[in-house]
Amino acid sequence: MDKAKLKHIAIIMDGNGRWAQCRSHERIWGHIRGSKIVSNIVEEADDLGVQALTLYAFSTENWSRPLGEVTVLFKLLKKFLLKERSRILKNNIQFKVMGDTSKLPEKTKSLIKDLEEESNSNTGLKLTFAFGYGGRDEIVQAANNFIKENPGKELTEELLQSYLLMPHLGDVDLMIRTGGDQRISNFLLWQSAYAELYFTETKWPDFTRVEFRKIVEFVSKRERRFGNVCSSDLQTSKLMAVENKEIITNL
Ligand code: IPE
Ligand code: IPE
Ligand code: MG
Repeated sequence: MDKAKLKHIAIIMDGNGRWAQCRSHERIWGHIRGSKIVSNIVEEADDLGVQALTLYAFSTENWSRPLGEVTVLFKLLKKFLLKERSRILKNNIQFKVMGDTSKLPEKTKSLIKDLEEESNSNTGLKLTFAFGYGGRDEIVQAANNFIKENPGKELTEELLQSYLLMPHLGDVDLMIRTGGDQRISNFLLWQSAYAELYFTETKWPDFTRVEFRKIVEFVSKRERRFGNVCSSDLQTSKLMAVENKEIITNL
């Protein structure tokens, strides 16, 4: 598999709090430092020719965190929007936020809306921030919206997919989690059915373009079988079919 086949990469940006605590700082230090490296990773994704990059910034479960921490995360989102707007537009990036943003301050909501509109016709990297996002929530919402619009009709995989928040992004090819934990934490559950998973011990504020590139190169070498056998076995099994006929008949 070559790099170009990893069209959609999703990253769980984890480990900010522990990064700060290791240095005897408050957890919010980690969030501040972590927010500063996001643009490096976006640039690297662009350079690698990735089509879509989806970043997990705030989960539905993160609402249970102390108010002070949640407020800092809100502020950092606003700062990112103000600071990165021109770079996003200059680099032809299409920016979107997916999730429940209703509790964000009005100013942040309007910054999101403006940047989404301004970058909507951009044809480069599709950069999506998952904020106030939960995979289960997304699937339940999709199913409910489908039922409302199509009473009595049977739901199929294709139809459900089309009712997700960002159907145009398609399936996730590679999901990376920083921070050392090996779980998905309710991120893109439907879209990751066949994603390659990669967990790194590196905490998000220490994650670099170089490590990101190495992961992409490493995972690009994996063979993805999607339930099938590998391509060389497929060839051999055709050749063996005649010889195996007797065995199969006698089973
Ligand atoms: C990830 O870092 C950022 C968010 C969840 C918003 P954490 O804050 O979860 O950092 P750790 O996992 O506690 O170190
Ligand atoms: C996942 O990290 C959410 C984000 C990175 C935004 P968490 O730190 O919230 O996940 P858990 O609680 O360790 O599973
Ligand atoms: Mg965490």
